[in-house]
Amino acid sequence: MLKISLFYVVVTVCIGLGYVGPVLAGGEPQWDLLIFTQRWPITVCLDWESKGPNHTCAMSDKPDEWKVHGIWPTRLHTMGPAFCNKTWHFDPEEVRPIESNLTEKWTNIEIEGASYSFWAHEWNKHGTCAAPVVEAINTQLKYFTQGLKLLSMYSMTDILSSAGIIPTYTSYYYYYNSYSLADINRAIKQRLGVNPVIECREFHGKNYLFELRVCFNKHFEFENCDGVVTSDDISKIFLEGDQILTNCQPDNYIVYPLSDNFGKPPNMLYVQLYKFIEWLQWFTL
Ligand SMILES: *[C@@H]1O[C@H](CO)[C@@H](O)[C@H](O)[C@H]1NC(C)=O
Ligand SMILES: *[C@@H]1O[C@H](CO)[C@@H](O)[C@H](O)[C@H]1NC(C)=O
Ligand SMILES: *[C@@H]1O[C@H](CO)[C@@H](O)[C@H](O)[C@H]1NC(C)=O
Repeated sequence: MLKISLFYVVVTVCIGLGYVGPVLAGGEPQWDLLIFTQRWPITVCLDWESKGPNHTCAMSDKPDEWKVHGIWPTRLHTMGPAFCNKTWHFDPEEVRPIESNLTEKWTNIEIEGASYSFWAHEWNKHGTCAAPVVEAINTQLKYFTQGLKLLSMYSMTDILSSAGIIPTYTSYYYYYNSYSLADINRAIKQRLGVNPVIECREFHGKNYLFELRVCFNKHFEFENCDGVVTSDDISKIFLEGDQILTNCQPDNYIVYPLSDNFGKPPNMLYVQLYKFIEWLQWFTL
């Protein structure tokens, strides 16, 4: 008797949860915004290497450029939806025409198991939720091509460098030219007109710039990212008169590391030269 009623309780709960799940039977996945996430390969690699003794990174030929992480549909104030169609698997054949572009610009930095695992993850988790709703990305080829297109239009490499924010030499011992959170936020906001999300990872007690996110509506028009929730604790902080959506420590400057000498002991000659140039600049300005 008890077994039977428990069975009914479980079945009823499962059916109930099914109805409030992200995919309504026969309907489209429900979401509000698309988050376009770019990531800084050097910090991604540091993060990955710090998480396992055997973790190694695959860097593309251009490690000092921002790469695509993904295009993620999201509801406001919550995460997801995700994995909206479990029978629509990633198929490498579909992206074959742009594979070399993806390798360079949507790089699978964290080498793990199967080849294509990164793209498969992005498609299976996020693409399958975006595709049924937005025609511009309703196939695997279109979804990945759109990521490349957004990167070429709104690359953080360009947006930051045109505001004078460039990656700089760093090592365990030396940090030069770290930037403030407000500088980075303002550079993006001035160019794109909307509030981004700025994500950091902490190493050696410092904030390293990790990911930058901007948000779009279903027509790929910019929207503020306010109300977006991600796995890192994003909060809205107030700094130098701006509102900033971030998980970075606000009182801390942000390290934006260059790949040269990364993780290796610094070449003292260059350090001295750099200090000398900095001193000259300070002296002559
Ligand atoms: C790391 O690699 C070594 C050598 O291949 C192996 O013995 C060890 O079990 C690996 N450790 C982990 C955590 O995978
Ligand atoms: C899931 O994807 C498959 C393959 O593209 C498609 O045939 C099917 O209609 C999709 N299911 C839903 C519920 O959208
Ligand atoms: C792929 O790269 C080639 C060569 O750089 C370029 O001509 C082409 O436009 C790129 N395609 C996409 C979709 O980015």
